[in-house]
Amino acid sequence: MSNILAIESSCDDTSAAVLRDDTLLSNVIASQKVHEQYGGVVPELASRAHQQNIVPVVDAALREAGIDKSELDAVAFTRGPGLLGSLLVGVSFAKSFAQGLGIPLIEVNHLQAHVLSHFIKTPGNPTPEFPFLCLLVSGGHTQILLLRSHFEMEVLGQTIDDAAGEAIDKAAKIMDLGYPGGPIIDRLSKEGNPDAFRFATPNIAGYDYSFSGIKTSFLYFLRDRLAEDSDFIEKNKSDLCASIQKCIMEFLLKKFEKAALATKTRQIAIAGGVSANSYLRNGILRLAEKHHWRAFVPTLQFCTDNAAMVGIAAYHKYLLGEFADISLTPYTN
Ligand code: KG4
Ligand code: ZN
Repeated sequence: MSNILAIESSCDDTSAAVLRDDTLLSNVIASQKVHEQYGGVVPELASRAHQQNIVPVVDAALREAGIDKSELDAVAFTRGPGLLGSLLVGVSFAKSFAQGLGIPLIEVNHLQAHVLSHFIKTPGNPTPEFPFLCLLVSGGHTQILLLRSHFEMEVLGQTIDDAAGEAIDKAAKIMDLGYPGGPIIDRLSKEGNPDAFRFATPNIAGYDYSFSGIKTSFLYFLRDRLAEDSDFIEKNKSDLCASIQKCIMEFLLKKFEKAALATKTRQIAIAGGVSANSYLRNGILRLAEKHHWRAFVPTLQFCTDNAAMVGIAAYHKYLLGEFADISLTPYTN
């Protein structure tokens, strides 16, 4: 049996979790509101907020788990990719905490953690079997991954420019909806007509994606309409949200379906912040029903950045005896 404390600080969420083997005992997340007024994450403010949050968040995670620090077997942390200043806070904290307790350190890749969140044991939620195909969609990444084991992930396709979450956030910014735009667009879309407006998706070879063209066509479309009617966005807000959401999510789903058919995988999963999107979640379930595949959709608390996913990835490294050296440094890419 192992008790692992996990820390996530790669972007703008400070999070700590405690896992006993693959069972989650606590998952505390402090989100940073300070970035909203700037319409995006300000790296300098993010690292400062991590410094303020890290001790109370770890303390809360241990208390909630009912675990004393003397009962911990390892400390895990996100090494990268992410913002350097943000990562440094988690990495430094984890190093000193582990060293103080005389227990091993486990480094985790943030993207692997998102995918492995499917292995957190939750009642009534079966875990995928290998091999399975995962669509990883977040604010920084968009990838189609074929998983052969916990740490064998083959990238079949990925974005050649913006990430899906970035595209959604930029669309929201163009409409002046606030940050982060993903959840806002998702919410407003519920009252809108997804077929009200059409935006072209690019033809990209293989299983790769591209989102910068969609963003530009959305921008030009609105510029032209606003020239005719300055209230165009206000009058059509929910239809615009529903239409751009459908455009981006259908593009994601279409390529993912193609990749699943080609690899003959019968299990599909989604992960990352954008996997919280209701259109995408329904879309994955629809795909699975159509082809008689098994679909794995993460519970909402494991979609956006959290330390539970770092903890589960660390647990599988713990089983393999893969520990990190105290001298390691974070990586941004
Ligand atoms: O995984 P994550 O928390 O951070 C990164 O590693 O990037 O993902 C954040 C992204 C943001 O772009 C955010 O707008 C998007 O996930 N997101 C959503 C939803 N919730 C979060 N996008 C669409 N619909 C949502 N419900
Ligand atoms: Zn993430």
